[in-house]
Amino acid sequence: MADFKEISPNAPLAEKALNWVDNRFPLSKMYKEHLSEYYAPKNFNFLYFFGVLSMLVLVIQIVTGIFLVMHYKPDAATAFASVEYIMRDVPWGWLIRYMHSTGASAFFIVVYMHMFRGLIYGSYRKPRELVWLFGCAIFLALMGEAFMGYLLPWGQMSYWGAQVIVNLFSAIPFIGPDLALLIRGDYVVGDATLNRFFSFHVIAVPLVLLGLVVAHIIALHEVGSNNPDGIEIKANKDANGKPLDGIPFHPYYTVHDIMGVMGFLLVFTAIIFFAPEFGGYFLEYNNFIPADPLKTPLHIAPVWYFTPYYSMLRAITSEMMYALIVCVIAAAYLGATRAAISSTLKSVVIGAAVVLVGLMFAIDAKFWGVVVMGGAVIILFFLPWLDNCVVKSIRYRPDWHLYLYVIFVIDFFVLGYLGMQPPSAIGERVSQVGSLFYFGFFLLMPWWSRLGETKPVPERVNFAAH
Ligand code: HEM
Repeated sequence: MADFKEISPNAPLAEKALNWVDNRFPLSKMYKEHLSEYYAPKNFNFLYFFGVLSMLVLVIQIVTGIFLVMHYKPDAATAFASVEYIMRDVPWGWLIRYMHSTGASAFFIVVYMHMFRGLIYGSYRKPRELVWLFGCAIFLALMGEAFMGYLLPWGQMSYWGAQVIVNLFSAIPFIGPDLALLIRGDYVVGDATLNRFFSFHVIAVPLVLLGLVVAHIIALHEVGSNNPDGIEIKANKDANGKPLDGIPFHPYYTVHDIMGVMGFLLVFTAIIFFAPEFGGYFLEYNNFIPADPLKTPLHIAPVWYFTPYYSMLRAITSEMMYALIVCVIAAAYLGATRAAISSTLKSVVIGAAVVLVGLMFAIDAKFWGVVVMGGAVIILFFLPWLDNCVVKSIRYRPDWHLYLYVIFVIDFFVLGYLGMQPPSAIGERVSQVGSLFYFGFFLLMPWWSRLGETKPVPERVNFAAH
């Protein structure tokens, strides 16, 4: 009782009610910490809209998901028809479904933009490593969520896409076949698979996602936001201890973000009303045909947001394994011949390389394709420790760093494009080069990020009020 804050009995009712709550729950404290007294750098640009947009899409997906579950039937015999029922007979069902299917693609667009922003401004660097790690975990969960959700309409692509991806797990030595069986709950994708994917899609993964997003924001607010200049605003504070280049999140950014939200909703609704299938990219045409286990579609491709990784998976042919073996030997040679490392470490590097090369000869290329595909996402977790540049933001890095990032983005798009195309000899070669570039970009970052002359970083952030 001693800590209870008393206020005048004549205070307005709302004030009294708030005081009553504050004495029992830190409502005003949280409002101040996360909104009215959270000082964000004043030089945020449009790339800073994508965090709040990711949150908006998360809410859209959860709310529309709740309404879809009211009418959807997680049963292989009725799932497809229940989606058709939602589209044709449930009042506004078509809108709810299109919001959810467009929301899935929108989620990846905004999250990719959000990650790209982090990449170019060095937002993953100290002290925001944990913000980035939580972000990477969110990305993994999001991929799982989208993959499992895609099985639910039980169309041809749902069925065959799941068949292809789950079968990949069986390429893992020793545990693979049992693991694939565990995921499917059957020897082929079937009713049991649909039931377990449904359960994960509607409850398990969303819970994990929500928890991770809360952790992501708490971690960010503990250290403060980065900005396009990559300067720590906490290094310059006024007499009251407030960052000179910071402005309260509320009202400044809450209002600013409304502009981003409006722009997003304009595009989002335009797609929903005028092009919900988006040329077969958001809803694949083959998925309007009910799943048929006896009829394999001619061409099976995942939805666009998975295709860069799918391309990397297909790039790992038995021929490509020789190129990878050469890379491992070259890396081990470079590591072992560095003067700075001890002889024990040298032996460890050589030993590890010998074992790895042995395994690469012994195990089928399909397995290494899975490793490469998974590795392409896992490598993102290590980014904070791969980048050695003395400055954070691309603005003050050597110009050629920018060109390298541009090539990286083009590479990602090319891989994404190839992942949608039927296999071809030229496509295979290009995706092999593209995969090598993707991994080279990250694995060689400790070396290249140190090279070149950086530009002088200003003391204070760059900002011109419009
Ligand atoms: C559901 C998905 C996500 C949500 C709702 C979300 C939300 C947010 C929000 C609201 C912010 C603060 C505003 C902003 O800086 O834009 C933020 C910052 C950040 N997020 Fe995310 N995020 C998500 C996914 C990710 C992913 C996948 C990554 C990276 C792998 C990531 C990395 C970061 C980083 C590094 C920051 C700090 C940026 C800075 O201060 O410059 N986030 N996030």
